[in-house]
This record gives sequence, C-alpha cells and structure tokens, in this order.
Amino acid sequence: MSLVHTRELVEQGAAARRAVPAFNVITLEYAEAIADGAVAAGVPVILQISENAVRFHGDRVEPLARAAAEVARSSGADIALHLDHVTDLELLRRASDAGFSSAMFDAGRLPYADNLAATLAAANWAHGAGVWLEAELGYVGGKPGAPASAHAPGVRTDPDEAARFVADTGVDALAVAVGSSHAMTERSAALDHALIGRLRDAVPVPLVLHGSSGVPDDELRRAVAAGIAKVNIGTALGAAFTQAVRDTLAARPDTVDPRHFLERGREAVAETVRQLCAVVGG
Ligand code: G3H
Ligand code: ZN
Repeated sequence: MSLVHTRELVEQGAAARRAVPAFNVITLEYAEAIADGAVAAGVPVILQISENAVRFHGDRVEPLARAAAEVARSSGADIALHLDHVTDLELLRRASDAGFSSAMFDAGRLPYADNLAATLAAANWAHGAGVWLEAELGYVGGKPGAPASAHAPGVRTDPDEAARFVADTGVDALAVAVGSSHAMTERSAALDHALIGRLRDAVPVPLVLHGSSGVPDDELRRAVAAGIAKVNIGTALGAAFTQAVRDTLAARPDTVDPRHFLERGREAVAETVRQLCAVVGG
C-alpha cells in the first residue's frame, strides 16, 4: 500500500467493474482525512489537487502536492496523486516534477476545434512526461464563472464526437457531461444512464464523472455499472468539513487552538469519504 500511478488504479478498477473515487484536496487535513476514509473502506483512492486549490495556496503547487504524496506513501491504502482542472499549460508542465502521475486538462468550455487543439498539445506534452492525461468533452457546468449549465441544450457529450476526440488527441481518459454539475450542495442530479452506456460503447478509454457531490448514491451505483471508471468528488467534503467546524465553534466559542476544530473537520471528511468509497469503489 502506498503511492501508486493513477493509470494502475483506474485499470485495476475497470477490470473489477469498480470506479476509483477521486477526492479534492484543499489542505493537509483533507489529504489525511481522505487517506483515513480510504483505509476504513478498504478502497484505493485518488487525491486530486485542482488548479483553483493551487491558486488558493498562492500558486505554490509543490508544498501541498509533496505533503499529499507523503500521506499516500505512509497510508494503508493504495493512493494516486492527480492534478485537476488544469487550464494553464505552465502549471501542467510542473505536474510531473511535483509528483503527480496524472492530470486533467480542462478545455471543455471551448468550442470543439479549440478544445481539440489545446488538448492535443497537452496530451503530447503529458505523454512525453509519463503523465496520464484526462480531458473533457461536452461541458460539466457549475464551476465559478462557468458560461453554461450542465442542463443547457448541446452541452452533453456526443458519443461519435467523443470517439473522434479521443482518437485525434490520444487522451487516456475522458470526462463526460451526462447530467451532473459542479458544486451542487443537494444530491438531486439525475444522470442520463443511456448516454453513459452509449459513451462506454463508443469510447475506448475510461470515462470520468465530474460534479459527483450532487449525485445520489443509487445514481452513482448505476453510473459505475454503466461504465464510469473515475468519480470526482469535492463539494461534499467541503460541506462536511465546514459543518463540523461550524458546530465545534458554536459549541465552544472560546476556542483558540485551531486543532480543536480542524480535528472535527478531518473526522467529518474521513467519514464522508468512507461512505462514498463504499458506494462507488466497493
Ligand atoms: O473535479 C472535481 C469534481 O468534479 C468535483 O465536483 O465539487 O461538484 O463534487 P463536486
Ligand atoms: Zn470537475
């Protein structure tokens, strides 16, 4: 059990018809909590650090990435490290040196031809550096400043176009727009399972579901059964962490030692991770 390559985890999961849960890391406590939840569930996981999280840390990617890698190395679970939602090629080029075995290049908001050209350049670089590259076709909305909703006409991923896109770019995995949306705080998304099945038949690489915090457990199980291989979860962890911190500070308004509320936040994230691992990776 240790730090492993994302490709290895996703291939093992696909062979066992399981998905690999991929959880967003914002601070060291998140990485620790995700590893604890993975061990409790007995499920391998991906720690992913988004470009937005890198910006939050003042554009410093290495300190959090190296800390997350050390958490993975000392864990009882198999854990991979992924750089998520990268729009900046300069940041992508730092991925390998910072310890990431995979990255998601995010050009899904662009028109098809522009997405294709940018993703091809990213894939060529990534493969030269041994980095497994995920891209997006169709548009999973809901990120800050997002131009379109996941439910707007024309944003779902078309299977024929997806097959061409993968062949023309050589990407290793594809994020698809099938009805989920980023940053949902209620689990009310309804996925297009028939579309997932058609994408699975048409596309020869693993399919990735983004915006999974808003997807109910049964919908997640059906999505995995239909062919989703990696399930990205972020907002659910933030909600659990923040609620625990809020409750702790409300109960103990005299708190001055941050460890008192960070510990409760870390426990809440670990429990959320354990539950979601059982749903998508069990
Ligand atoms: O790439 C990260 C995920 O798509 C997270 O989405 O915050 O809505 O769970 P979420
Ligand atoms: Zn996402």
